[in-house]
Order: sequence, then structure tokens, then C-alpha cells
Amino acid sequence: MPEVEKNTPPRPYPSQYVRPWAAKNGDRVTIRPIRPNDEPLMVKFHETLSDRSVYLRYFSSLSLSRRVAHERLLNICLCDYDREMALVAERTDPTIGECQIMGVGRMSKLHSGNEAEVAVLVSDRFQKLGLGHELLRRVIEIAHDENLSSVSAEVLPDNIAMQVIVKHLGFRVRTSEDLSSVRAFLDL
Ligand SMILES: CC(C)(COP(=O)(O)OP(=O)(O)OC[C@H]1O[C@@H](n2cnc3c(N)ncnc32)[C@H](O)[C@@H]1OP(=O)(O)O)[C@@H](O)C(=O)NCCC(=O)NCCS
Repeated sequence: MPEVEKNTPPRPYPSQYVRPWAAKNGDRVTIRPIRPNDEPLMVKFHETLSDRSVYLRYFSSLSLSRRVAHERLLNICLCDYDREMALVAERTDPTIGECQIMGVGRMSKLHSGNEAEVAVLVSDRFQKLGLGHELLRRVIEIAHDENLSSVSAEVLPDNIAMQVIVKHLGFRVRTSEDLSSVRAFLDL
């Protein structure tokens, strides 16, 4: 008889990664792993993104309707924390008293299991406040805690901001032969 596969219980919410942070403009921010009920906030977050930011993150003009498709967001918000980690940065909008997501940092383990791909996306309104740098720094910290050996990111050659950030964080940067992309690597 075939052996019955044992289901491993899902990993509990990694609350050790919930921590405050202060933006350069003084905004008080909470950076925390994404939760299943973040879908409505993620829809609003995507509505704030410029075409340019979307292009720099996804390397194509992924439409808003595709970005906020329920299936897609469900996958992102119901994250298997053993396989990937999405951190959101949230603040309370003082004018309406509602929470809003300012940016997202992600780490997805590759098949090898001890390497991961990382990426960051900050809402246009909150760019240049140090958030992209802080989200990536925290994602790297988590990768380190999870005993990964390295992380890498794919960056478009004209994405100067991201190249500044990865260099600050100690990544090695390599441009592809056809100059179409830049790959950044960090050994942990
Ligand atoms: C790239 C991105 C994540 C940067 O986030 P951010 O919060 O605006 O960046 P930070 O405020 O943390 O800036 C970090 C550094 O980059 C520099 N920088 C930021 N934007 C810059 C720009 N447009 N040109 C040059 N330098 C820039 C900052 O001066 C800062 O350097 P410093 O620490 O020496 O002052 C953000 O612009 C973004 O989401 N872009 C669209 C998506 C994307 O490109 N994702 C990356 C693909 S993986």
C-alpha cells in the first residue's frame, strides 16, 4: 500500500519580524510579514503605483486588473512562510485614520532551497524616504535567519535607485552581455 503523505501544519505567523521603523519624513511605519486579510490593502496599494514603477518591478506593463486579480493577491497574501516571505510597510493615514501599505519587499526561495530571489516595490508617494532600502535590508536579515546562503535580484539597467540600494547593502552587481539586465548577488 502506498505510504500516506503526512501533512505538515502551516507555519504560524512569523511575528518576530513585526517591527517599527521611522521614515526620513518622520512617518511612523510598521514593517511586518503580509497576512491573509491584507488583500483589500494590497488592492489600494496597487492603485497608487505609476506605470514607471510597475515596469521597473515587473519588467513589463502589467495592468492594474491583472495585478489585483483575486487569485494573484490570494497567492501573495496567503504566503507559505517556509517558502517565501513578503514584508509590507504600513502606516496610518492621519487624514482618514486608515491603514495603508506603502511598500512591499519579497523573498522567494529558489528550488535549491538555500538561495532566494528578492524584490522591492514602494508606492510612488513614499519613494525616496529610505523605505526601499529598509525593506530590502529586512528581507536580507530574514534570509540570513532562515539560513539561506545567498540572495539575488534582477534589476533593469536604468533602475538607478535599486542599483544604489543593492550596492549600499553589499551586493555584487553584474550586467548581462546584451546589457538588457543587471543581476545583483549577495552571499550571506
Ligand atoms: C527602487 C525603489 C524600491 C527604491 O525605493 P525608495 O524607497 O524610493 O529608495 P530609498 O529612499 O530607500 O533610497 C535608497 C537610496 O537610493 C537613492 N535613490 C532613490 N531614488 C533614486 C533615484 N530615482 N535616482 C537615484 N538615486 C535614488 C536614494 O538617494 C538613497 O541613497 P542614499 O541612501 O545614498 O541617500 C523604488 O523606487 C521602487 O519601488 N521603484 C519601482 C519598483 C522597483 O524598481 N523595484 C526594484 C526591482 S527589484
